[in-house]
Amino acid sequence: MKLKKSYPLYLANRPTESRETLEVFDKFSGKRATRVAFGDAALVRKAIVAGHKARPAMAAFPPDARRDVLEHCVTRFTERRDELAQALCIEAGKPIRDARGEVTRLIDTFRIAAGEATRIGGEVIELGISERTRGYRGMTRRFPVGLCSFITPFNFPLNLVAHKVAPAIAAGCPFVLKPAAKTPIGALIIGEVLAETDLPKGAFSIMPCSNEDAAQLVEDERIALLSFTGGLIGWDLKARAGKKKVTLELGGNAACIIDADPGAPLDHVVERLVFGAYYQSGQSCIGVQRIYAHRDIVEKLRKKLRDAVKALRMGDPRDEKTFIGPMIDEDAAKRVESWMRDAVKRGAKVLAGGPRAGNMLPAHLLEKVPHDCDLYRREAFGPVAFIEPFDDFADAIRRANDSDFGLQAGVFTGHLAHAMQAWEQLEVGGVIVGDIPSFRVDNMPYGGIKDSGLGREGVRWAIHDMTEERLLVLRQP
Ligand code: SIN
Repeated sequence: MKLKKSYPLYLANRPTESRETLEVFDKFSGKRATRVAFGDAALVRKAIVAGHKARPAMAAFPPDARRDVLEHCVTRFTERRDELAQALCIEAGKPIRDARGEVTRLIDTFRIAAGEATRIGGEVIELGISERTRGYRGMTRRFPVGLCSFITPFNFPLNLVAHKVAPAIAAGCPFVLKPAAKTPIGALIIGEVLAETDLPKGAFSIMPCSNEDAAQLVEDERIALLSFTGGLIGWDLKARAGKKKVTLELGGNAACIIDADPGAPLDHVVERLVFGAYYQSGQSCIGVQRIYAHRDIVEKLRKKLRDAVKALRMGDPRDEKTFIGPMIDEDAAKRVESWMRDAVKRGAKVLAGGPRAGNMLPAHLLEKVPHDCDLYRREAFGPVAFIEPFDDFADAIRRANDSDFGLQAGVFTGHLAHAMQAWEQLEVGGVIVGDIPSFRVDNMPYGGIKDSGLGREGVRWAIHDMTEERLLVLRQP
């Protein structure tokens, strides 16, 4: 399949051409795949004005109509499933199996939002707590916060867009979205489908643009909420966001603990670790980076992991058998390579790996990585993980917590007490017992603590952020 020759951006619900265009490249062949309309400061301003104007209409757009819009998206994405997967494969270099998985999740996320759209409830509060307040009742309902701005990353061009757009529609908020410049096609196809609906005029704008022009999405005071997924730059955006609500999902260097009794066959643990560390070349915020294995099993695990990593097939992401495709660009691959080189210079050992060719970086497994080097401390966001032994479970938790990040952690253990200890003591937004930190279902709360971010996504939690509670007090006459 080929992409269309060009894609418009969406300004106030309508396909719109622009003076400037942006070239989008096939990340495997390096060839130009298509071009998209590219917004400038004036277009971003128009999108904000239109979105701001659309607030009352969006708030008054009935819940069942919001649900119908979201259900229309579910139907259309299902019909266009293959095209969407191929688009991801081209623009992100995502292996086709992972790309299909992301399309399934895109559909899930919109379906979940369709369900939630008619379930945004409130509370009745008994206010008669003393003689003074007898006969008073309180009631709350949630109302949309208003215009939202969204900035999304390259690694899930469909589903991380869906996690902002679908809750906004369910909540009744207009929005302006800036998709990642390297992978804007997924978001623009979502725009194409939204343009088929009867969303109120101005309800949405989807606008690839430069970071400079996107500054308005961070700073403009007409915007009530900014939701950003990406790197640590998110904290700078928050500092510039003024009075807005801000949600940040900024990644991590996820740990996975393998207990002496992992509670599952070691072959299964290996299979899951390999998936978690290397799927879509490790370009996931919850990709396994640090593996802490109990000393009783570390040797066996190390050998099995090494063999499994060596067997991973790298190549054309369109090939069904490919597991490792290209990284997003050569700079990203070079960065990971240089972090590994530095770790090796300082004593780390490579158990599996191979030479880089452009943006193709084979899966790497290391051990003895010094705790003060970038590969240990920072988010690798590439096809690399390392393994380290621990002596007792408390020690494993200490090591996992020895990070500035705290998004999700995985724990393989056959001991309920250890599972509970992990839940209580791991400094993360989510503890996954019996699986890898990379596990995510789209209706669960998802987000981190420490440098990993602020707030939670996962449809219901995003809707909560995108709405504000308003109290009604009723006095019985
Ligand atoms: C992310 O990389 O930020 C999201 C991971 C996921 O949704 O699986």
